[in-house]
Amino acid sequence: MAFHRVGNYTFQWTDLHLPREKTDPLRHEYDTLGHNAVKRLQQIARQRKGEASVKPTLCPGGFDMYAVLRDYHDQDDVLNRLWNEVHTVPDWVDWAQIERGQKFFYRYAPANLMGFMLQAFVGENSSVPGVVEVLVRTGGFSTKVLLRRLLETFQHLLQVTANLESIQPGGQGHTTTVRVRLLHAAVRERILRLVKSRPDYFDVAKFGVPVNVLDSIHSICVYSCGHMWLQLPQMGVFPTEQEKTDYIALFRYVGYLLATPHEYFSSVAQAKATMESMLLHELQVTETSRIVGHNMIECIKDRAPLRVSVGFIEAGSRILNGDELCDSLGLGKPGFLAYGCWRGHCWFVQSLALVQRWVPGADEAVVRYFRNTLYETLVNSKRELRGRSEMDFRHVPQMGKRIGKEGSELPKFTGSLVDRPLEMFYLAVFGLGCVLWLGVVGAILRMHLLMLS
Ligand code: HEM
Repeated sequence: MAFHRVGNYTFQWTDLHLPREKTDPLRHEYDTLGHNAVKRLQQIARQRKGEASVKPTLCPGGFDMYAVLRDYHDQDDVLNRLWNEVHTVPDWVDWAQIERGQKFFYRYAPANLMGFMLQAFVGENSSVPGVVEVLVRTGGFSTKVLLRRLLETFQHLLQVTANLESIQPGGQGHTTTVRVRLLHAAVRERILRLVKSRPDYFDVAKFGVPVNVLDSIHSICVYSCGHMWLQLPQMGVFPTEQEKTDYIALFRYVGYLLATPHEYFSSVAQAKATMESMLLHELQVTETSRIVGHNMIECIKDRAPLRVSVGFIEAGSRILNGDELCDSLGLGKPGFLAYGCWRGHCWFVQSLALVQRWVPGADEAVVRYFRNTLYETLVNSKRELRGRSEMDFRHVPQMGKRIGKEGSELPKFTGSLVDRPLEMFYLAVFGLGCVLWLGVVGAILRMHLLMLS
């Protein structure tokens, strides 16, 4: 069977891979239950406000959709079906496995976070035409609000991996996931409603329905499979088969809650083939991709406390996504120093993973440390999100609203490399690594010469 290369990743086509004839129609399928439920929720919200006689307003936000679903589901057939669906645990869910999968995120947290930002967000997410067309219409990718959006994404990720109770029905991760499903349905409902009055607002024939089944399958791949094959191995960290099985099982369940067909993630081999099929069929850089990629980098660069440079972001993105994709996204070509820092990052996460495998107790300590600190730093910090977000429908698509390339909202960074703590640390690791390598090579050469003399 044929070999394919996408970016720096090569794979062989198998019977498990999905041909275009199978994937393309999925662009026109979507979560109809969530869609109808959101319409009912909007109707109930209007009735509660005493606006029952008013014809549907074009602005569907401004109320807590999850609270209305929770409080009214037993009075409405559609809402009841949705409530029951998300509260029914499929028989393929094995809670012990899900719990092991949750640890994976924290076990390799520095590698996972870096991979998620640079491969999943900067590279892959920016390169899916249908997804970026939706993102530029909500306004959520404006650099003024993008940081909050990213942190909300991390909040969701941290909640679904927090502990078992959190992802079980009624837990915080479970509730947030249902909120996200309603948010997706609201965005879709809103865009489709605008399309009804102005068909050229969003090209449904070309991009499919907004937040469609194919894009959702792709997103679950980005969330779970990316770490296993596109990110960690490129940093020198190789997840075990058990880790792959467990983490993919966790996201198979998260996908199920988000109305994403779960059979594409029923085994590690199937999930890998699904991810590779998406890479082959779905990545296509457009002008809108360049806007999304640009704003993403503007949002994350130079931000305190780590103050990561554009060069470092570009070096990491190029290693993870390949030069071709990064060139077409318009990323610059960084110098040797940036690649040195990136290599330092790889050696650091690689050494940490080795210590975790060899030293008893180290793994538990690392998992505990990141579990305790990440939520505090990313969600509870007074600086950005300032506490848990309820994933409200805040960025409502409007006719004529579409974000373009924007500059950073931060003042221009005027410091030097010394003012960039993460890169300074990675540079030190790189320097140390080089000295160690030279020492080893020197010792081998000396032994060789001794043997010859
Ligand atoms: C199936 C896997 C997916 C997961 C786990 C996921 C996760 C999330 C999360 C956590 C949020 C709320 C936080 C935020 O605003 O970033 C969100 C919002 C959103 N997602 Fe997704 N998502 C998925 C698929 C998709 C797809 C396929 C699209 C297609 C375009 C999409 C488009 C959006 C949009 C437009 C919002 C609202 C953001 C805004 O206000 O601008 N998501 N998603």
